[in-house]
Amino acid sequence: MEKRETFASRLGFILISAGCAIGLGNVWRFPYITGKYGGAAFVLIYLCFLVILGIPIMVMEFSVGRASQKSAARSFHVLEPKGTKWHLTSYVAIAGNYLLMMFYTTVGGWMLAYIVKMASGTFTNLTPDEVGGVFNNMLANPGEMTFWMIVTVVVSFGVCSMGLRNGVERINKAMMSLLFVILIALCIRSVTLEGAGEGLKFYLVPDFGKMAENGIGEAVYAAMGQSFFTLSLGIGAMAIFGSYISKERRLTGECINICVLDTTVALLSGLVIFPACFAFGVDPGEGPGLVFVTLPNVFNQMPGGRLWGSLFFVFMSFAALSTVIAVFENIISFAIDLWGWSRKKAILVNLVVILVLSMPCVLGFNVLSSIQPLGAGTTIQDLEDFIISNNLLPIGSVLYLLFCTSRYGWGWKNFIAEADAGKGIQFPKWARFYVTYILPIIVIAILIISYIQKFA
Ligand code: ALA
Repeated sequence: MEKRETFASRLGFILISAGCAIGLGNVWRFPYITGKYGGAAFVLIYLCFLVILGIPIMVMEFSVGRASQKSAARSFHVLEPKGTKWHLTSYVAIAGNYLLMMFYTTVGGWMLAYIVKMASGTFTNLTPDEVGGVFNNMLANPGEMTFWMIVTVVVSFGVCSMGLRNGVERINKAMMSLLFVILIALCIRSVTLEGAGEGLKFYLVPDFGKMAENGIGEAVYAAMGQSFFTLSLGIGAMAIFGSYISKERRLTGECINICVLDTTVALLSGLVIFPACFAFGVDPGEGPGLVFVTLPNVFNQMPGGRLWGSLFFVFMSFAALSTVIAVFENIISFAIDLWGWSRKKAILVNLVVILVLSMPCVLGFNVLSSIQPLGAGTTIQDLEDFIISNNLLPIGSVLYLLFCTSRYGWGWKNFIAEADAGKGIQFPKWARFYVTYILPIIVIAILIISYIQKFA
């Protein structure tokens, strides 16, 4: 068996974990649900959930990863008390990582396609309806979508094939650094547009009345779901990076750093999008089409819009690819941990597997569009998103929580010894009651409410 690599630096660990977190959830999902639920009031609730729910669960994932020195496919086998069945959690984790990629590769492909469309002037002089038409035509064209999905998958596995330090760590570090530079440039452009003030107000001044229009319960639920999704929690996607670091630093501090980076990108993405929408009089509450339909219209009206638009989609693509690469690293490690495969074999086999598994999502928008699994107008992508976001992420999170706090699992003592090994911020001891008894109930309640909302 090949020797297990570790990260070259602490910064590498933080940036790759942040890269796993920073993704379509921040740059695509966050702005459109914020638009839908009335701006700043929603952002406030979301931030609360990151603190009370996101950070503790992330600390637990990293602890399990670091203590076991394995990916989620084997970590529970290593740490569970003999004779127990906690290792069944690994199936949730494995399924979660594959399912996330089954639709993520397609949306990542859209982002790449839009860099080319923007740069080549596809949208120049088009009316808003025609801009919408470009997106719909892409969805209707399985060949085009398959092509971009393949590019996403091949490039990402290509990075992983260069190794953990040389590929995943080095490339992600470069991508994340560039992502921040582009994001700041886009922010400055957007907030200095004439008429940007209204957008800033919408985004930064809480208006709970506006939120109530859509239902406060629904907004709270959306904020909670978003906090799981944005941190990729519950499927061990983060845990693996804990297995590549030493015990020099306490994990709570590292999680705070990662969360701050993730949140900064989400908040700044909003700062790019909302002022620009208001400056050009377009509705930011558009839903998933916000990025692909609304924004090209905004760039069309902006001086130098082709350049700004291209940069915007480069930024989006970096966010998507950093997550795909990080999750592929998990998927590769599953095979290495489970069957002792070489990295190369794990990559080649998974390349084929992921290409095949990504096809239902691609075809769900065209050839298979008659399959509407969650009701009229829904797609296979919606089903995949529902299984992962509404089920596997919260269920996996509860399992990690119980494993780390229950004496029938790995247990509080082991967890806290691992989380607090090294220098830095300690996991607060007073939080034991909260994470043991209250947090699991919150997550299970969310799970039940989501089902009632979806199916009742
Ligand atoms: N955490 C990833 C994202 O936000 C899944 O896109």
